[in-house]
Amino acid sequence: MPKDVSFAEASVAEDEFLRLVVRTVDGATFEPEAAPGFRVMELIRAYGIPIKAECGGSGVCATCHVRIPKPWQDLLPPPSDEELAKLDEIPEADETSRLACQIMMSTELDGLELEIQPDSLVAQTWIAG
Ligand code: FES
Repeated sequence: MPKDVSFAEASVAEDEFLRLVVRTVDGATFEPEAAPGFRVMELIRAYGIPIKAECGGSGVCATCHVRIPKPWQDLLPPPSDEELAKLDEIPEADETSRLACQIMMSTELDGLELEIQPDSLVAQTWIAG
């Protein structure tokens, strides 16, 4: 018989929460909590920032385009060939570009800074501030 697990036991302990630093190109900054093991795209969306992410994280739509500043790039696993191929389809992409759905949150990435690109925000609902 399975052991009953209380809600408190099943919840993520508060000290396990990490932090993201999410910016938009107009300078707005948000700091969502970030649990390890979740895709960065999911954490951004859960916080309420209207990232398009049209394929839901399958890595096929390229509408979760973010830029990662240099100090943080070195902590990320390199992009897969599939991710690089999708980034090649974005005219504005450069060497700092990544797909947020392909980055898994981990304790090593606590404080990860990124900038969501305008092509990956739902424009009609976005009010910065
Ligand atoms: Fe579609 Fe990231 S959500 S590629």
